[in-house]
This record gives sequence, C-alpha cells and structure tokens, in this order.
Amino acid sequence: MKLPFQHLLKASQFDPSLLKILFDEARELELRTKSLELRVKNSELRIENFGDGKILATVFWEPSTRTRFSFETAMLKLGGKVISNYSMETSSSITKGETLYDTAKTISSFADIIAMRHPKEGAVAEFAKGSSVPVINAGDGSGDHPTQALLDIYTIWKWRNYSDFKSAFGELTIGMVGDLKNSRVVHSQIELLKFFGCKFILVAPNALKLPQKYKDLMKENHCEFSETENLEKVIGDFDVLSDTRIQQERFESEEEFKKYRTFYQIDKKMMTKAKQEMIVIAPLPRFGELLEEVDSDPRAKYFEQVRNGVIVRMALIKGMIK
Ligand code: NCD
Repeated sequence: MKLPFQHLLKASQFDPSLLKILFDEARELELRTKSLELRVKNSELRIENFGDGKILATVFWEPSTRTRFSFETAMLKLGGKVISNYSMETSSSITKGETLYDTAKTISSFADIIAMRHPKEGAVAEFAKGSSVPVINAGDGSGDHPTQALLDIYTIWKWRNYSDFKSAFGELTIGMVGDLKNSRVVHSQIELLKFFGCKFILVAPNALKLPQKYKDLMKENHCEFSETENLEKVIGDFDVLSDTRIQQERFESEEEFKKYRTFYQIDKKMMTKAKQEMIVIAPLPRFGELLEEVDSDPRAKYFEQVRNGVIVRMALIKGMIK
C-alpha cells in the first residue's frame, strides 16, 4: 500500500477512500501483531521486515509522551531504526540560529522518514520544503495533528466493528468537549469526520469556541452542529465524547488559563448522565478535566487509543516511506 502524497501535513489530505486504504492496512497489521507478537522471541520487537535498514527521525520542538514514543515504537515494530534529539528546542543547532530549511536538509540526509512537532502553525510545512524524505506532522501549534485524529477515528471504527464508514460514523452524535479553539486534535478530527454526515455538539467555554473556519467546513459538508457551554445538559445525547484538555501553552497568561482549567469535569457522576453505549476518547494528557475514577468505566477508550496509535502509525510509515 502506497499513499499518494510525499508529506502528511494536514488531516484534509485524506478522503474516505484513502482513509479506507490506510485503515484496512492498520487492521491487517493489528491482526498480525496479535498473532505474531505471541511468537516473537524475548526482546525482539519487530513483527515485520518492512523497515529493514530504514530510519525514522523524531524531531520535536514541543513536549510529547504518547506521540513520540508511539512513532518510535511503530518504526521498531516494522523492523526499522530510530534517531532522535531529546529536545530540538534546547539542543539542536536551531539554538545557533540555523533555519528550519537547513535543519530539514540535514536530517533528511540521514533519515528515510521524519515525524515532526512544532509550536508554530505551519512550521512543519516550512520544514517539509527542505526535506528530501517524507515528513509527518506530529502537531503544529493549534493547527493540525493528523495522526492523532487518524487514530481517534480508527478507535471509533474499531468500536463500530469495522463496518462500512457510512454506518460506522454516519449515525453518530459526536460531542466535542474542551478547548475547541486551540486544540489541533479537534481541528483534525473535524477534517476527517466531515464526510460522513455525523452530528456534532460543540461544548466549550464561550472564549474557547471552535474557530469559524471549521464551522464553515461543517456547513459545506452538511454536518448538523450545535454549540453550548453546558456539558451536563447535552452529554446524554452523545454517542462519542471527544475530550480535550484546556491547552495551557496557547494562553497568553496563567490567569487567563486558570479561568478555564476546571471548566469541565468528566467524573463518575457526569458519566451517569451519559448513554450506556457512549464511548469517551481523549488524546491525553489530561489536566483535571477527565478524572482517573472514569478509567475503570468500560466506556473509557483513551488507553486503547494509545495502543491503536502504534498500529495506525505503522500503517502510515509503510504507506509513505519510499
Ligand atoms: C495532543 C497534542 O499534543 O495536541 N496530545 C497528543 O498528541 N496525544 C493533545 C494535547 O496535548 O492536549
């Protein structure tokens, strides 16, 4: 399976048929991982020889736990290798004034594929201009986080028993809760879900509402949506609750952030108001809005998402590497 683009910069590069190609590959890998991992010897991680001799570079200017480890695990499981810099922000030649372009020229001389994260929207695209190998956007400011959205949607598809997309997604009411203004994950999720006619309920403090361009996108694609500040009033209508933390690092001041930090709290009590069949997805990390007491609820899917992330990124690397 080969994906028809050089770089993955935006979730909008996917349409339903491409999504199907990627997800079928991911599902195949998931099945093979399950059966093969049982037979893999001791510390040998790989389940494929695909990545033999191939190198992934993880190039991150922002903190990460899941995304970075997940990319690195995906490459190791494909039989490839990983090079990295623990913090591009503090210990790369960028601190000496080197440009993103030259950084890309250099890293792409060593690696076969690059996963990159940066606090500035558009910086990954700028970097990609200098790269001779595929670049995957692992989050650029408040812009896009396509691989997170892909694994989120894959998690929903799996929960819907891998059925055809129209019936898997079309009937759903998706509640998006949290910092809809700044969350790149939400923005990418909308780009992927817009095709399927699902209904959205947007729950955010007034100051952190979804930017107009994403509402326009929903309208253009005939997706019904409504907006409210009140989670308790609408949680009973959700089939999927997509939670995002208030994005502290995008605020101008600590005071401003503190106003919203605990605006929402998804706890056991709140979950009693939700449908029995609803699921909760979240990219994590959480910061007070999604309590640990919810983790034992079978509706909580956020740690399963973490595992699905490796599979989806394996499929992506396979589809993009030359
Ligand atoms: C998200 C991100 O970095 O945008 N985290 C992730 O990649 N799993 C969400 C967040 O930081 O809130």
